[in-house]
Amino acid sequence: MAQRIVSGMRPTGKLHLGHYLGVIDNWVQLQKEFECFFFVADWHALTTKYDKTDDLKQDVLNVTMDWLASGIDPEKSTIYVQSHVPEIAELHLYLSMITPQNWVERDPTLKDMAKILKSKEGTNSQIGYGLMGYPVLMTADILMFNADFVPVGIDQVAHVELTRDIARRFNNVYNTDFFNEPQPKLNACSLICGLDGNKMGKSFNNDIKISDSAEVTAKKVMSAITDRSRLRKDDLGHPDECEVAFKYWKIFGSEEEISTVRQECEKGLRGCAQCKRELGTKINERFAEIREKRAYYENHIDEVKDILQTGSQKARVEAGKILTQVRDLVKMY
Ligand code: TRP
Ligand code: SF4
Repeated sequence: MAQRIVSGMRPTGKLHLGHYLGVIDNWVQLQKEFECFFFVADWHALTTKYDKTDDLKQDVLNVTMDWLASGIDPEKSTIYVQSHVPEIAELHLYLSMITPQNWVERDPTLKDMAKILKSKEGTNSQIGYGLMGYPVLMTADILMFNADFVPVGIDQVAHVELTRDIARRFNNVYNTDFFNEPQPKLNACSLICGLDGNKMGKSFNNDIKISDSAEVTAKKVMSAITDRSRLRKDDLGHPDECEVAFKYWKIFGSEEEISTVRQECEKGLRGCAQCKRELGTKINERFAEIREKRAYYENHIDEVKDILQTGSQKARVEAGKILTQVRDLVKMY
């Protein structure tokens, strides 16, 4: 039987190229080899935004449409909404009983989150009980399907380590070898920076969305930072100091194109405006099909909802099997 993968993403709204290159494209590849469970982590969203849920439903759909358009295939993978699989909440409860308090308190991302929450004026800066327990919830997400591998970014590896610790502890406490100790699978990512050279992020206003039109993308690319020392188009350029545009070329261009851009830039034969116009076209070519697919789903939203419902149903069947055994092992009535 194929080995299992579980991974999730918070419903943050429309996804950008950083998500695509860093995460989704990895997932698309993993589908070929593994039995994959991909879910929208809407309970995780509540850990920090329980008081800002107006857009939650739409955000779940937006994330799902970005996945589907990018090639996450509901025929191959189980795509579901976390909160539609209530078995996860019950497993979380059992796991919370056996997890020592100091294991969650030492979670490195918790401190960062507290800082972020505090820095946001007008939001709750309290760390709620749910947020405290979010690494345990993540553990439940993963153990619910007895995953073998968990594709994550480097910032989430500590959580998978905790998952392994909790799996081992469960096995010890209940004298079993029921749970696998899942391994983190680092996303092999080409970390794309934002248009301003900082980390690409929705809140920094420096991103290109998967769902942006060709026109919007072209315009955004024109604002990408280049070699700041270059004032006129025949000034000799320094591609390696071209902070954003040349980095994008290295991601989206063929080897031949990259080397042409480099040579012409260095010789002063290529103006930055022209260079970025070509780059915009290049990026638009790469995403043309994805955007077409996304537009299709936007116009067929019932299909998207169906996919989520079917996927959640499928996930519940698998989760139910595991949960029955867990209840048994814990010796629940
Ligand atoms: N915590 C992850 C994040 O913030 C999302 C997530 C939740 C997840 N549950 C998961 C990822 C389970 C992998 C497996 O990015
Ligand atoms: Fe960057 Fe292209 Fe301008 Fe060279 S010509 S500095 S690679 S944008």
